[in-house]
Amino acid sequence: MTRRSVIAGTGSALPARRVSNAELAQSVDTSDEWIVERTGIRFRHIAGPDETTGTLATDAAKAAIASAGIAAENIDLIVLATATPDQTFPATATRVQAALGIDDCVAFDVAAVCSGFLYALHVADSMLSSGAANRALVIGAETFSRILDWEDRATCVLFGDGAGAVVLEAREGEAGILASRLHADGRHNELLYVDGGPSTTGTVGKLRMRGREVFRHAVTNLSAVMRETLDMAGLSSGDVDWVVPHQANARILDATARKLELEGERVIVTVDQHANTSAASVPLALDVAVRDGRIQRGNILVLEAMGGGFTWGAAVVRY
Ligand code: UT7
Repeated sequence: MTRRSVIAGTGSALPARRVSNAELAQSVDTSDEWIVERTGIRFRHIAGPDETTGTLATDAAKAAIASAGIAAENIDLIVLATATPDQTFPATATRVQAALGIDDCVAFDVAAVCSGFLYALHVADSMLSSGAANRALVIGAETFSRILDWEDRATCVLFGDGAGAVVLEAREGEAGILASRLHADGRHNELLYVDGGPSTTGTVGKLRMRGREVFRHAVTNLSAVMRETLDMAGLSSGDVDWVVPHQANARILDATARKLELEGERVIVTVDQHANTSAASVPLALDVAVRDGRIQRGNILVLEAMGGGFTWGAAVVRY
């Protein structure tokens, strides 16, 4: 029997404040019509002063642990994907560990922006498969509202805050992560980046994006890596029950699904409700679809994401 990483539980958390396009249009030169037509976004949640990447991650983690039916002290690994950590150091994963009351485990952050959750999942899966850990919390959590330039209408309307988490458990059997593949191409830094950092400007900086170029790369890279992981798993797009994609833009989801000849009904879409929550978007969408009953045990899922770097990746999972 093969030792695999099974998704034993899922959870998510959103800030209390929900902002509509119409509300945004009161302070930004934009309109509900433009945002819906170009992106599919209708709402986003924005963190209040007491809500941070760490608090959202902790709430999502607690929900995932409860749904897995385990005790927090059984977690021996926490991998948290974020581009908006609470502090430059230590890792936000250690704040989550402390908040969960776990005395000892391995805990670290992964920075791969919007594909961070796929990176974190791959690392955790490798550690579980090798026997280095047995039960992992894999979290994607972000407060992008804190790094947005609210004067730049081309970016500030696109993002939201939130967190999603899964409990991964090493088990023998057919269920679990069947294939996972990551990529990076650092030549594209200037298309999507933050113009600050501790080692350069000494400031946190603001997000900058050349959206149209990112869009083009996203459709090409995502469809290619989805095919690659399906091939690795010995499956084809016809075997896929659900695609759980990074939620950047409804038009990217449509174009990618078309390239793989997947019907739109098999794609989980939450971008309308949450906007782009970067590393949180895949586990957040997964949790929504698990809780509303669309995703069932035994289903074949493809998770995928692409973001700044560029970095991108996909994973095929028998849920
Ligand atoms: O998660 C990381 C990966 N990120 C992505 O995948 C994002 C990928 N890119 C996109 O989703 C799209 O490129 C955007 C949604 C960012 C932009 O859509 P677009 O169709 O590529 O529009 P555009 O940037 O070419 O802008 C078209 C027009 C421009 O006006 P002109 O020059 O044609 O007069 C913009 O100034 O829309 C204007 N515009 C806006 N108008 C109203 C840009 N932002 C806004 C806005 N409200 N918020």
